This record gives sequence, C-alpha cells and structure tokens, in this order.
Amino acid sequence: MALWSGRFSGDQKKELVEFTESVSFDKRLYMHDIAGSKAHVEMLASCKIIPAKTAKSIKSELDKIQKLIDDGKFEFKIALEDIHMHIESAIIRSLGDEGARLHTARSRNDQVNLDTRLYLRDETGKICQGIRNLQKALVFQAEKNSDAIMPGYTHLQHAQPVLFAHHLLAYVEMFARDSARLQDCLKRINVMTLGSGAIAGTTLPIDRTKTAKLLGFPVISANSIDAVADRDFECEFLSCLAIFAMHVSRLCEDIVLWTSREFSFVELADSFCTGSSLMPQKKNPDVAELARGKTGRMYGNLMSLLTICKGLPMSYNRDLQEDKEPLFDSADTALKILSVFPPMIATLSARKEKMLAAASNPELMATDFAEELVRLGVPFRKAHERTGALVKWGNTNRIPLDKVPFEDMKKIVPEAEKGLLKIFNPAMSVSKREITGGTGPREVRSQISSWKRKLQN
Ligand code: ARG
Repeated sequence: MALWSGRFSGDQKKELVEFTESVSFDKRLYMHDIAGSKAHVEMLASCKIIPAKTAKSIKSELDKIQKLIDDGKFEFKIALEDIHMHIESAIIRSLGDEGARLHTARSRNDQVNLDTRLYLRDETGKICQGIRNLQKALVFQAEKNSDAIMPGYTHLQHAQPVLFAHHLLAYVEMFARDSARLQDCLKRINVMTLGSGAIAGTTLPIDRTKTAKLLGFPVISANSIDAVADRDFECEFLSCLAIFAMHVSRLCEDIVLWTSREFSFVELADSFCTGSSLMPQKKNPDVAELARGKTGRMYGNLMSLLTICKGLPMSYNRDLQEDKEPLFDSADTALKILSVFPPMIATLSARKEKMLAAASNPELMATDFAEELVRLGVPFRKAHERTGALVKWGNTNRIPLDKVPFEDMKKIVPEAEKGLLKIFNPAMSVSKREITGGTGPREVRSQISSWKRKLQN
C-alpha cells in the first residue's frame, strides 16, 4: 500500500500503478536519495525535532539499504512508485515508528529536487573530467604533428594553408567553453532546496543551513515555491550538453571527411573502426558517425524538458517526473561519447604528406599574394581585384599561379615584382602568421604549451 494512502479507499488499478510509477528509471538516484536523507535526519536531531538515537538508527539503516541496492539484493516493486518511497518504506519496515520520523518536515517535492541536484553535481564533475581528457588527446595530436600543414576550409572550399595543430586546437577552445558553461551551470545546480516542503516550507524549527553544510551546498534556496517548481538548472544542464554534442558532431564530420579516400588526411586505429558485412575492403568511421547521430537525442532531450516545463502552473506538478529520463539519457550519452573519443583521437595517425599536397595548390596563397601587393603600397581592394584577375587568367590558360610567366603577370598586376613568385609556398604562408591567435608555428607552439599547462591535472 502506498505511504500516502490514508485518505484513499480501495486498491489502485494495475494500469494506473504502471502509468504513474517512476522507480523503473529513478532507482538510479538511490545513493543521492540516501545521502539527502542522512543529512536531513542529522539536521532534525540537531534541532531536537527527532531524538538523536532515532537519527542514528535511521542513518545506519540507510547504510544497510545502500549496501543491499549496491549488491542488487533490494526488492523494487512499482506499487511503491518511486525511489523515495522505496527507501522510506524500507526504513519504516525495519524501524517501525522510529523510521516513520524520517519524512518529518519534508515532502517528495523538495526531496526529488534535492536528489536531482546531487545527481547532476556528480555528473557535471564526471563530464568535465571527460572533456579534459578529450582536450588532452587533441593537444597530444597537435604537439605530435606540430609541423603538419593542411588546407584550411571555409564553405568546405580550399581557403588558406593552416597548421593541422591550429585546427585541432580550435576544438580544444570549443570544448573549453563547454566546460566553462557546465561550471557556470553548476552554480545554479548547487543550491540546497530541502526544507521547501511541498510548497510552503514547514512549521517545524528546522535548520536549512545545517543541511546545506552537511551536503556541501554553498547556497540555500530563498523561495519555497520557486524551489519545488524550478527545473531551470536541468534545462541549463541539457542545453550545455546539447552544445557540447554539437561540437562533438562537428569534430565527427571532420573525422569522417578526413578518413575518406578523397581526403586521406588521417587514419583511425583499426580498433576504433568497423567493417562492412558485404564489402571486404571497408573500414568505416562508425564511432564518429554514431556520435554525430547521438547529437539528435541530446537536442531532443533538451526540447522534451523545455516542453514539459512550458505552461506549468506554479509550483510542483507531476509532469515534472518526466524530467528524469531526458536528463539521464543526455548525461549517459555524453559520458559514453567521452569514453571512446579521447582514445580514438589519441591513436589516430595524421598523414602529413597528403595534407601538405592538398595545401600546396598555389591558389590557397592568393590572399598572401594580395597582401604582398599591400606591402608594395597597393590599396587592399585594388590588390584583391588584381589578384582575382590573375587567378582568372591562370584558370583560363591552365597555368598554376606560381608558374605564370613574369611578363604575363606584369600585364595583369603592374605593381608585381619578381620576388612575389616565392609567395606560393604553404610553409611560408603559415610562418608569416605569427599574430596572436594566428596559425604561425611559434604562436601555435605557444598555444600548445599553454593548453598543456592548463590541462595538467
Ligand atoms: N516521483 C516524483 C517525481 O519524480 C516525486 C515527487 C512526487 N510528488 C508528489 N506529490 N506526487 O517528481
């Protein structure tokens, strides 16, 4: 029988029990629920609301339940609705009236809010650690291939030569923003909401600061109505993960392109690829494709929760029970991605000669040519136009830019000097870009060292 059955008569229908239960998915909050309950009874005892002896028995009983669940020996039944009811019922079963004091000055509305915050605090820590590992793998590859030059792309068209390391470090920057966003979200997660009761707090003289201290929360919630209604911290968490997934998905797309025969810029270790059941020659980048695909559910989870919360009247509504599966799914998916990506990145091999060959098309240095004209005093717009005309001439006459006879060049670019032909060299092109944030080898090396320092522990 449900713990709230006092004002009800007759048993609940099986279909209703199945429809309303959440224990099938929220049982994974058991450790957080137990941690919250232990802090709660300790606070109740210190405020003399329950005897110290009772708090002690409840705490030791909670430890036993934790062990039973850890060992898979705890019996779950959907008639007990959710994890909170399961644990409280087990306490009452073993301690009788003493156990019946556990839920004093507490509602499941503030309890579930607290448990979710404890859960998300843990997950945020694990995900940020995973992101660090991924960044370390990218920095490792950047350092290992610090002299590799590849074509940089815009619109997926050849743009300008860049260092492969510079390209990899672009992802390190994106992932750094993901971590920073999660750390910022953690400030809103890290608020202690217990003591808000069902909506209006409690008449009993509890000490919420004490509970917060016991659970390591720096802040307590200021409004009991907001506290039980609030799921913003969950929306934020899912939004952080959606953006993270978007970044992963972009990296995946690069990996899929780079491993294609047409690019052949990198090769993944065999252990991170799969074969085809039909075509014996195939080596597919499935890990990257799957991670790119999983972005869909991460966006979907954010949309689910925003939609669940939209239009809810104050304050707690049972709709909010639907928050858990999207949260669990996004956190699990992020952690799964982060378990395979760092080793996959760390073990890939860069094919520098292929990258350099692709970056050696002199047209990639057309901007360098125009900037040399600027050095010779030509206004940039004019230099751009002249260089464009030179590219057109080369294309029409099927002559690569670096092979255009000087006399012909002079006709199109009157300001041209002989030395300009040296410009069409990708190594020189990157080496001239030593500005802060540029792709110059010295600048990129200093970025690598700075990331290595930041990612040290
Ligand atoms: N299982 C519920 C949830 O996840 C717990 C809170 C239920 N509160 C209530 N008054 N029925 O939201």
